Amino acid sequence: METVANKIAVEKVKSSKIQDVDFDNLSFGSVYSDHMLVCDYKDGKWNAPKVVPYQPITLDPSAKIFHYGQSIFEGMKAYKDEDGKVWLFRPLENFKRFNRSAQRLAIPEVPESYFMDGLNTLIQVESDWVPQNPGSSLYIRPFIFASGNGFHASPANEYKFIIACAPSGAYFSGKVKVLIEETYSRAANGGVGYAKAGGNYAGQFYPTKLAADKGYQQVIWTDDNTHEFIEEAGAMNVFVRINDTLMTAPTSDRILDGITRKSILDIAKDEGIKTEVRKISVHELVEAAENGSLKEMFGAGTAAVVSPISGFGYHGKDYDLPDLKDSYASLLKKRITDIQYNRAEDKFGWRYEVIQ
Ligand SMILES: Cc1ncc(COP(=O)(O)O)c(C=O)c1O
Repeated sequence: METVANKIAVEKVKSSKIQDVDFDNLSFGSVYSDHMLVCDYKDGKWNAPKVVPYQPITLDPSAKIFHYGQSIFEGMKAYKDEDGKVWLFRPLENFKRFNRSAQRLAIPEVPESYFMDGLNTLIQVESDWVPQNPGSSLYIRPFIFASGNGFHASPANEYKFIIACAPSGAYFSGKVKVLIEETYSRAANGGVGYAKAGGNYAGQFYPTKLAADKGYQQVIWTDDNTHEFIEEAGAMNVFVRINDTLMTAPTSDRILDGITRKSILDIAKDEGIKTEVRKISVHELVEAAENGSLKEMFGAGTAAVVSPISGFGYHGKDYDLPDLKDSYASLLKKRITDIQYNRAEDKFGWRYEVIQ
């Protein structure tokens, strides 16, 4: 799929900071590119977006984002192939989810052309910032927050939509050990769990810190009602392989509809792997770990791609997973990254070229 972006105003930096970046040693999301897209909502409408130098923002202390947390975001990546061409992966899915999140947080939805043409123009301008090293990419962070003022607990009348970029390496290095959460909840029925709302992540930090203190890198959230069924982890959906069946929980208003999750399900089916989308109980997981039928678990998300889980803790006991040579995780990771980096045929039509 190709598009030619509509004209978006671009104000370029006077001098680039790209020469200060060590592209061979990138961490995740901690250095930012030269430019960002900015679009303001004022007087009942989104104004035309523009690309400007990356810069701090000044806000009034009464801006509603500080008080009522009206903010949403997306996470995407731009990938560079061997010929230097730049690709996005299913960006329209991010755009649609962005507006689903906006709607839930009473934030005005962004027109598709502002998001897609703005994104295209920004990534064209930043194409030198898309790393070519294996496993690296340009992480793209679209977000909206309530910039309008007032202590009244009601939606703001002004918002800022920004897209910023960070050349990034791997999100996790190595396998992750997870704790199945029995006390805290990430999301509840009727809540905002399905939205990428900033507050969903703030609410995870404390339980995740408690888990980290016990030696686990991530929490696997369970349903808020019974804590009997696994849902998702940090910024990843969770997959479980019992014998040769690959399973993941159904999406709901508590679980983010991950783009990596649905792509992995399609690729797994294409590989002839038996898949099931159904509730997975902790009891079933523990039993499978004990009788040896639990072969693998992994997280899936844009940032972490496919991230194998080495084991899980539950009820004060640790369960280790076997170290498989031919894991589904490595097969599926290869298939999806080969599509993302334009190393393989894109039979699903997921790749999107950013014309430079
Ligand atoms: C809570 C949560 N679950 C799952 C995911 C994975 O979604 P995606 O594959 O669209 O990045 C993310 C990351 O966006 C997330 O924040």
